Amino acid sequence: MGVENTNITDLSVQIGSLKLKNPVITASGTFGYANEYEEFLSLKNLGAIVTKAITLNPRKGNPQPRIKEVSGGLINSIGLENVGIYEFIDKKLPLLIQNNIDFFVNIAGESIEEYKKVAAICRQNNIRALELNLSCPSVNKGCLEFGKDEKTLYDLISAVRDVFPGILAVKLGSNVSFPEKIAVTAQKAGADAISAINTVKAMNISLKKNYKGFNFIKGGLSGPCIKPVALNFIFEIKKHVTIPIIGMGGIMTFTDMLEFFAVGADAIQIGTGTFTDPDLGERLVFELNSFMQANKYKNLEELINSLRTEDE
Ligand SMILES: Cc1cc2nc3c(=O)[nH]c(=O)nc-3n(C[C@H](O)[C@H](O)[C@H](O)COP(=O)(O)O)c2cc1C
Repeated sequence: MGVENTNITDLSVQIGSLKLKNPVITASGTFGYANEYEEFLSLKNLGAIVTKAITLNPRKGNPQPRIKEVSGGLINSIGLENVGIYEFIDKKLPLLIQNNIDFFVNIAGESIEEYKKVAAICRQNNIRALELNLSCPSVNKGCLEFGKDEKTLYDLISAVRDVFPGILAVKLGSNVSFPEKIAVTAQKAGADAISAINTVKAMNISLKKNYKGFNFIKGGLSGPCIKPVALNFIFEIKKHVTIPIIGMGGIMTFTDMLEFFAVGADAIQIGTGTFTDPDLGERLVFELNSFMQANKYKNLEELINSLRTEDE
């Protein structure tokens, strides 16, 4: 594994001032802090990885059960369990740096002040790229609420911009009334890219055997069942923003990835797909490379442009 040469065709993509060697990124919360996946693939073959959401202080997350498989996907209610920014810097960051891979630190918080503090600490530690999680449905405070309201979104991104001059991707969710307004606001406030979509607010119930009452889990839905929602979201916002879009939501195959490019994504992330297929990201890179070579595409832009050519 990890021996194929992926450099023959130019798969690179520009996200702000960051040039990724290819457009395949692993999604936040589904790839741990990356080292957990080292035995399955060669991390350096990925375009980049995104860490799980990091908050100022450690979080235990929600009580169990926190994951439920449903038709075509899963519902998670992890509740942003993480080690907190200080332990992340001490124990996890060195591994990412040693691996010599591009990465985004996904950050979350319960207040604008918390996002700002975490971003400032990231800057002090020379972290180049952040993904602001403004769309997590599995927590009650912060996060999702910040990504719904244009003014709060603008204030939050601007506040982070004041302390973090690096690359800023803003992660949006589909649980909003006017995706294009939210996306435009993110761009105006200084985002370098939009990541979309986060999980979709959902609930699963299990009726009790005697049909008296039920158990339930509420959280975020991910996997193939949300792909149509994600494609539509990206298609809607693409017409309104000029910054790159990093698309995700149910990508399990090479064709899924091309569909995201067709509707407007410039790069993609894979999340739930990694749970059934831990080396999915690396495989998508190899498949993309082979496809581009076979069809004589010189670079990714050329392939993406051809995908976006609609039938007359
Ligand atoms: C178990 C789990 C944990 C997640 N944790 C985070 C997180 O910490 N931060 C975040 O921005 N998104 C998180 N997500 C959302 C994913 O990054 C991604 O946006 C979403 O799952 C859609 O992509 P997919 O269908 O390929 O999984 C999580 C998703 C899952 C399934």
